[in-house]
Amino acid sequence: MTDLLGLQKKFILEHLREGDVAVDFTMGNGHDTVFLSKTVGGSGKVYAFDIQPDALASTEQNLIESSCPFNWHLVCASHDRADEYVKEPIKAGMFNLGYLPGANRKQLTTKRETTLPAVRKAIGMLGEDAVLCVAVYPGHEEGRLEGLELIKYFESLSRFEYGITEIRMVNSPESPFFVLIETKEKK
Ligand SMILES: C[S@@+](CC[C@H](N)C(=O)[O-])C[C@H]1O[C@@H](n2cnc3c(N)ncnc32)[C@H](O)[C@@H]1O
Repeated sequence: MTDLLGLQKKFILEHLREGDVAVDFTMGNGHDTVFLSKTVGGSGKVYAFDIQPDALASTEQNLIESSCPFNWHLVCASHDRADEYVKEPIKAGMFNLGYLPGANRKQLTTKRETTLPAVRKAIGMLGEDAVLCVAVYPGHEEGRLEGLELIKYFESLSRFEYGITEIRMVNSPESPFFVLIETKEKK
């Protein structure tokens, strides 16, 4: 069966190239940071954000053990402050919302009051022909509400500026789903 969350990478690879700038807005254990770091290579740059110092430690270890190029900047700050750290247009961004799998601190889940401002800012940071991927986990209450709020916001964005696609399992409403926000290529 299709690995739905694994599909995110296929879409990101349609946009992200060697030398580009990418952002992991929810670093966690750094699996997405490793993917972004390897994709943009030594001439690119990856910023990654998390509010848990433990996430930075395990991501750093993951990046080193995965032999990633040293192109990464790990920031212990909330993702709604990303624009204070990232000054260049980005080619790809990833939000994997929810809480760190395996962690017993589920209260450190992403929350609507910071997720929506962070996603708005991230969309504003996209360069041309860029992509933002937002994975939502509606199986827990905050995730469900986060998803509803995000979809309402995405529906309000102009189709002439953004292509917005939702990928979800239609026969499993509580399963994770993701949304792609793509900007146009200037001709
Ligand atoms: C589902 S996990 C991310 C998994 C990660 N992408 C990976 O590959 O391991 C969600 C992460 O978001 C982090 N988080 C929660 N609120 C945040 C915020 N306001 N800013 C940045 N990160 C936040 C949590 O600490 C947690 O590590």
